[in-house]
Amino acid sequence: MSKPAAVAQAAAPAAPAFDVARVRADFPILSRQIHGKPLVYLDSAASSQRPLPVLRAVEHYETALHANVHRGVHSLSQWATEAYEHAREIVRRFLNARSTREIVFVRGTTEAINLVANSWGRDRLSAGDEILITHLEHHANIVPWQMVCAATGARLRAAPVRPNGELDLEAFRALLHPRTRLVAVAHVSNALGTILPVQEIVRLAHARGVPVLLDGAQAIAHEAVDVQALDCDFYAFSGHKVYAPTGIGVLYGRESLLDAMPPWQGGGDMILSVGIDSSTYNELPWKFEAGTPNISGAVGLGAALEYVEALGRRAIGAHEHSLLEVATERLAALPRLRLVGTAPAKAAVISFTIDGVHPHDIGTILDSEGVAIRTGHHCAMPIMELYGLAATARASFACYNSLEDIDRLLEGLRKVRELFA
Ligand code: ALA
Repeated sequence: MSKPAAVAQAAAPAAPAFDVARVRADFPILSRQIHGKPLVYLDSAASSQRPLPVLRAVEHYETALHANVHRGVHSLSQWATEAYEHAREIVRRFLNARSTREIVFVRGTTEAINLVANSWGRDRLSAGDEILITHLEHHANIVPWQMVCAATGARLRAAPVRPNGELDLEAFRALLHPRTRLVAVAHVSNALGTILPVQEIVRLAHARGVPVLLDGAQAIAHEAVDVQALDCDFYAFSGHKVYAPTGIGVLYGRESLLDAMPPWQGGGDMILSVGIDSSTYNELPWKFEAGTPNISGAVGLGAALEYVEALGRRAIGAHEHSLLEVATERLAALPRLRLVGTAPAKAAVISFTIDGVHPHDIGTILDSEGVAIRTGHHCAMPIMELYGLAATARASFACYNSLEDIDRLLEGLRKVRELFA
């Protein structure tokens, strides 16, 4: 992969530690205009933009390498297979998984969690068993468990959240009991930005022999994710939240668990042999990858993770954290503005409301100023309900955001307050 321009610059002694202007130059979409104004993209928690190295890797795959994987003796098929499996190795390295057998390509976080709910859950759960989540989960980490509970008679429990958006760890601990079969929690909340104490959660669950699934959709681009250090049993994330294309994601699973789980979808590539009456299944990880996969998406994901590695996860995290601090301080000072989610440990997300203005109006007025944020319930209705809100406005940051973006957000919010004075 060609190195991002920002990295080449960072290597020079006089260069700033994180040169956001050079990073921005890697993202062509950031130079476009919206309603005649330069785009300010503050919606990366919904989907991040893609840098040139990712776009080029996908273009190279599509124009020079594409054929189906694992199927052909011809050169293209072999090159496509190598590219796809090389991407898996990059994911393994990025997560520090022990083996590529633990890396399953899926469509995204939602599919990863559905895979575990169906393959792990349906066989193991029965009436009276419990799955423990938290009150701040994304719908993707609620609904699949509701469905498997309905099918098996198990019960879904949710640990409460304090008014500042922190998990109530004591209550979580109290909800862990002998019938808890699985803990499934977000690493970072998409609606509030809270970073959950996942290491402590894993420790508490493992002390009772309970496996833990972490929904890493909002953490993967912002936090260090080392599945061995976290000691989690499953880790799910989506490529498009970490500068890769949509439609590709990853389920990491501890090999011993994946090995014991049945396939959840049947079809080509996941079998060793097929007869009319029965079949034998492929090895890990292909046992869970029925049908032709998203090969170019995987190639793009590999390039995206290399891009993040080259910029430096620590450097990106520090940059985003400083943006979050500045934005929090400036927004909190605005009259009638309420921050929603003020946990001490937060990542890259700032949710807020303005008295007397519907969040959709905030979003629409900001859009007319070229500023893209997300408004709504953020697919996390239970936490919104806890705050007594139908919706919030949410600005989220990525490696390409700058202090100027925060200035533009504040200018836009001034317009909102003038219009709704
Ligand atoms: N889960 C995505 C978000 O938080 C779509 O916006």
